[in-house]
Amino acid sequence: MLLPGGQGMWQRNVVSNQDSRMAVDGSRQPVHVPVLLRETLEVLDLRPGLVVVDGTVGAGGHARAIAVAIAPGGVLVGLDRDSEILVSARAALSAEAGAASAEARVSLHHLPFRAMRQALAAAGLTAADRVLLDLGVSSLQLDRPERGFSFMADGPLDMRMDSDAEVTAASWLATVGERELADTLFQLGDERHSRRIARAVVEARRRTPITRTRQLAELVVSALPAAARHGRIHPATRSFQAIRMAVNDELGELQAGLEAAVACLSPGGRLAVISFHSHEDRLVKQFLRAHGAPVTKKPLVAQPAEIDQNPRSRSAKLRCAVFGEAVA
Ligand SMILES: C[S@@+](CC[C@H](N)C(=O)[O-])C[C@H]1O[C@@H](n2cnc3c(N)ncnc32)[C@H](O)[C@@H]1O
Repeated sequence: MLLPGGQGMWQRNVVSNQDSRMAVDGSRQPVHVPVLLRETLEVLDLRPGLVVVDGTVGAGGHARAIAVAIAPGGVLVGLDRDSEILVSARAALSAEAGAASAEARVSLHHLPFRAMRQALAAAGLTAADRVLLDLGVSSLQLDRPERGFSFMADGPLDMRMDSDAEVTAASWLATVGERELADTLFQLGDERHSRRIARAVVEARRRTPITRTRQLAELVVSALPAAARHGRIHPATRSFQAIRMAVNDELGELQAGLEAAVACLSPGGRLAVISFHSHEDRLVKQFLRAHGAPVTKKPLVAQPAEIDQNPRSRSAKLRCAVFGEAVA
């Protein structure tokens, strides 16, 4: 069964979510386009010799530019909780960092960003001058149906960023209480029809386990009132986002990551965070105000030209603060 209106209806959204682009060799490959790159480099105030932690190294887009900016003599410590994506980071950093890598050391780790002290120690370091967290999922994860993040292609209902983690979206949905599911959809997905969807999930799983992304997407759509089935975004977008955030405990990880960053930064160090979700941004704003000196009063957002090139940047907010010393 096709989703209402057929797959084509949300084609624009596929592109906006997944940033497929021509690779330099002309092949059609998914490429993760780093958001707010120029702004991130500016607020981090990079210079040669600095130690920088990229806690969400992903495909290495930001990391590559950082490695160049801190050479010679700098160290880039990259972390990601997804071991598969680190393969892409390694490739990106060895290819272009080429010139830089001779002079900026790169050290990559399969760890959550809350463990950045451990990654620094493994690289023989005790503190960082800068930390970057670029939250959410990478297009490289969204683009692979077998990872189960996308409602646009059928795949196992997985959604784990770290494939070693125990809880998948399918196992979470099999046991979560109706009330908790509704609250999650409402709080993490801003889904107005959270109660109807939660009820439909609980009823459906009595008949058959929910194990596929297409199955869940169709279930969500069928639970919505007719008027809510057609909109600017795919009607399952909010539910998928909320379930992904719950399965990966993204808000809990963010809080732990912010605390780890402050504990690792040397005096005068800077922490920059790019978020895509209002709850994340609120948490980041409050944390940076409470513990540091914000570099800009308002969050930096993408300019129209960037949004045009990379629609995913539309909801990005960049905040940065200096720790242990007032901003000059
Ligand atoms: C938006 S992508 C980062 C893209 C990267 N800045 C680039 O330019 O290619 C987010 C990445 O963060 C990773 N991630 C999310 N939460 C994490 C956590 N708590 N610890 C470590 N990595 C995490 C994801 O696996 C994903 O690869």
